[in-house]
Amino acid sequence: MRTKIVAGNWKMNMLQHEAISLISDIKKELKNRGPNAKNTSMIIMPPFTWIPAAVEMTSAEPAISIGAQNCYHEPNGAFTGEVSPEMIQSTGAEYAILGHSERRQYFKESHELLKKKVNAVINAELYPVFCCGEPLEVREENKQETLIKQQLKESLFHLDEQDFSKVIIAYEPVWAIGTGKTASPEQAQSMHQFIRQLIHDNYNDKLAENTTILYGGSCKPDNARELFSKPDVDGGLIGGASLKAKDFIDIFFSF
Ligand code: PGA
Repeated sequence: MRTKIVAGNWKMNMLQHEAISLISDIKKELKNRGPNAKNTSMIIMPPFTWIPAAVEMTSAEPAISIGAQNCYHEPNGAFTGEVSPEMIQSTGAEYAILGHSERRQYFKESHELLKKKVNAVINAELYPVFCCGEPLEVREENKQETLIKQQLKESLFHLDEQDFSKVIIAYEPVWAIGTGKTASPEQAQSMHQFIRQLIHDNYNDKLAENTTILYGGSCKPDNARELFSKPDVDGGLIGGASLKAKDFIDIFFSF
């Protein structure tokens, strides 16, 4: 059985006191709701600066893990302003998002750079949450499968089976991110099924069955249940709605 995950990508939001109160609120909501019968795991991905506090505040919460939103591909050295996967790992965080469309778009992260980051994250014993997804114009030309195939092939499919088993994939259509426009459950299912088929073709059936594939893009409490009911949708990567404890916890309980 693959793991179901609801991950909160805070992006560049939250001052220190806000980050602390959001995590306290998430913990309170979680306590109120009791155990998650579906065994869903939660990952909170705050900005780098709040990672150590987030790890500390959630260390007694078995359902919650902490991750980063990005990292550099070298372990250390003269790279002013960058943060290495080893540094992230040393805080007790366990995951790193790679290839988010905002990184691809605003910071020009290429397939080749992302391949290096994927390797670096796995070397540092973190789990990559690798994002793929098509912009609107690609969807309008019905070329989304070609693009997703390229994104996975050029940055992920060089991994051997053992390393690939550590990867979580997030399918995030760019036209749905932060726009309030969600992919329909059918559109999400069709892309997730396509991604699972690619894993099958490049590796094997077992790995395809065991890989967690998250949906991201305006996932909210009122649409999460329908999205998560699809057989190949194993949870969500949540942006805006992860900044409100109640919404995030509602999504967490949407399986
Ligand atoms: P959104 O962001 O939920 O605000 O659309 C999702 C993401 O970018 O990961």
